[in-house]
Amino acid sequence: MDAPRPLVDRSLPMLAEGYAWLPNRMRESTGQVVRTRVMGRPALAVRGPEAVRFFYDERHVRRHGAMPGPVLSTLFGHGAVHTYDGDAHRARKDLFLPLLHVDRIAGVVEHVTAAWDDAVATWPGRSRVVLLDEAAVVLTRGVCRWAGVPLADEDAEPLARDLTAMVDGFATLGPRHWRARSARRRQEARLSRLVEEVRSGAAHAPADSVLDRVCRHRHADGELLEPRTAAVELLNVIRPTAAVSWFVAFAAHALHRWPANRERLRDGDRAYAAAFTHEIRRFYPFAPFLGGRAVTDLSWHGEQVPAGGMVLLDVYGQNHDEKLWGDPYAFRPERFLERPVQRDELIPQGGGDPGTGHRCPGEGMTIGLLEALTTRLARLEYEVPEQDLTISLRRIPARPRSGFVIGDVRPPG
Ligand code: HEM
Repeated sequence: MDAPRPLVDRSLPMLAEGYAWLPNRMRESTGQVVRTRVMGRPALAVRGPEAVRFFYDERHVRRHGAMPGPVLSTLFGHGAVHTYDGDAHRARKDLFLPLLHVDRIAGVVEHVTAAWDDAVATWPGRSRVVLLDEAAVVLTRGVCRWAGVPLADEDAEPLARDLTAMVDGFATLGPRHWRARSARRRQEARLSRLVEEVRSGAAHAPADSVLDRVCRHRHADGELLEPRTAAVELLNVIRPTAAVSWFVAFAAHALHRWPANRERLRDGDRAYAAAFTHEIRRFYPFAPFLGGRAVTDLSWHGEQVPAGGMVLLDVYGQNHDEKLWGDPYAFRPERFLERPVQRDELIPQGGGDPGTGHRCPGEGMTIGLLEALTTRLARLEYEVPEQDLTISLRRIPARPRSGFVIGDVRPPG
């Protein structure tokens, strides 16, 4: 190893600079790797398809102990699949993979689009509709119906508020963070009770539903998941589905900024809808970076990190890397029609193989939902009133500041 250079801890600048933090540091270095310090530990940040394979190799990087407590207490939940490695990770991932398999996507899309159509039917009478909030309620209703999680009509909005609060508050120390913690506490308690009731026969879980599978899932040692852990994993299906609302708001933003996209989506061009969806996930900021702990002393492109240090994968930076995307700050869905994109190039939901590593198992579902909802949005007639559409890269997770307000909605023709 090289003699260690003194490095200043970057945890606070990281929160202040938001999405630009690692890309800025990368620009000051070779562009593909940077050595820094976070959470009191030395850290190496990497990007690029080759780096994705390095990062997802469990001989190099493991997740146990890497996730800060405040992120677990808000976004993922303690004891979540995200925190495991090796056999324990695979045993837990086996819960998600069949549930979110491509064959099951049509089912959730059907429930969510039905909820969308019901909601849209009520919009013409309203002076303003905040798309980010409305889409979250639609997605919450749809995913709960699909997952077999009981949800009274009047509970959809409060649940959607809690699910989005968990996402909104994980990377801040202020009031958003405390809202996220209490939302998680509330929903974990409610869903733990539901799991206990299903197991005792006091509540019904439709056969083979997400609820049914979660209630029956076992740890690698054969023990049933504790009710709290089952609730955490149930939330790890319904919370990120509600978070697709961020992408719906970004899609509305893109349709507004670059209206030519609207025509092609309206026409029902499936290949274009897929390309548009990929470009939304690439272009707009959501996950800033991912982190794990170095298993052993590691070296990447001449920079080192000792065992126990952090390795960060620069997700936002890679999705905007000039070398991969040419003109990364142009919104251009056509790029996905011009050449096939490799597995480890586009990484808004992680890289590698979801079957063996931590890549998001809900990526196919996210794409299916977004294709359906953006096509519907493109066919909807509405006005975009004066509002603040700024998307600050300092705010994690980013969002159009107004949540994207529409008005004067006319029903689809
Ligand atoms: C993991 C992003 C939607 C379930 C992840 C990861 C990211 C991500 C960045 C971490 C990958 C890693 O640690 O290497 C997103 C985004 C979504 C989304 C941006 C859209 C808003 C979904 C959906 C589901 C889902 C719809 C399920 C219905 C999960 C689960 C994991 C995960 C269970 C943990 C996987 C593991 O640790 O093995 N997601 N996701 N996500 N996602 Fe998603």
